[in-house]
Amino acid sequence: MGQMAQKISQVNQAELLKTLNIAYAEEWLAYYQYWIGSKVAIGPMRPKIADEFLEHAKEELSHAEKLAARIIELGGTPLIDPKEWQEHALCKYDAPTIPYIINLLEQNIVAERCAIARYQKICEMTFGKDFVTFHMALDILHDEIEHEEELGAYKADITATFEHKNASK
Ligand SMILES: [Fe+2]
Ligand SMILES: [Fe+2]
Repeated sequence: MGQMAQKISQVNQAELLKTLNIAYAEEWLAYYQYWIGSKVAIGPMRPKIADEFLEHAKEELSHAEKLAARIIELGGTPLIDPKEWQEHALCKYDAPTIPYIINLLEQNIVAERCAIARYQKICEMTFGKDFVTFHMALDILHDEIEHEEELGAYKADITATFEHKNASK
């Protein structure tokens, strides 16, 4: 536990730790949503999109690692039991029960938008008050914005292909 780390943070610690643990739970669920999506996906551009999902899964896991390290630095405890992930996460796990690529892209776009809002909120909470948490949240925010853009581009490509096929019939 870092006493100075806690002392220099000007944010309400209980509120910050609660929010960081919400984000931590969401990252594990995001990791699994991408990881299982990469296995079950069917439809156009599957190999490419499955690779992209795996790449995103790795990045979500690295976000969980950053959050766990910061929670510990601030004297908190990352959620210990996976059962708590579903309870604490506000960006909910969306099981890919219909594994068609477009559905998976849409589910993950919703998840990314929720993640963007989460890190925007953590940035606002910590801006000018806790520089280390702020920089971590800003780094993660960049990744989530990139994820949303990448998924949106795949979705647009697939939609454009269908529209082109239908128009040329
Ligand atoms: Fe993430
Ligand atoms: Fe993401």
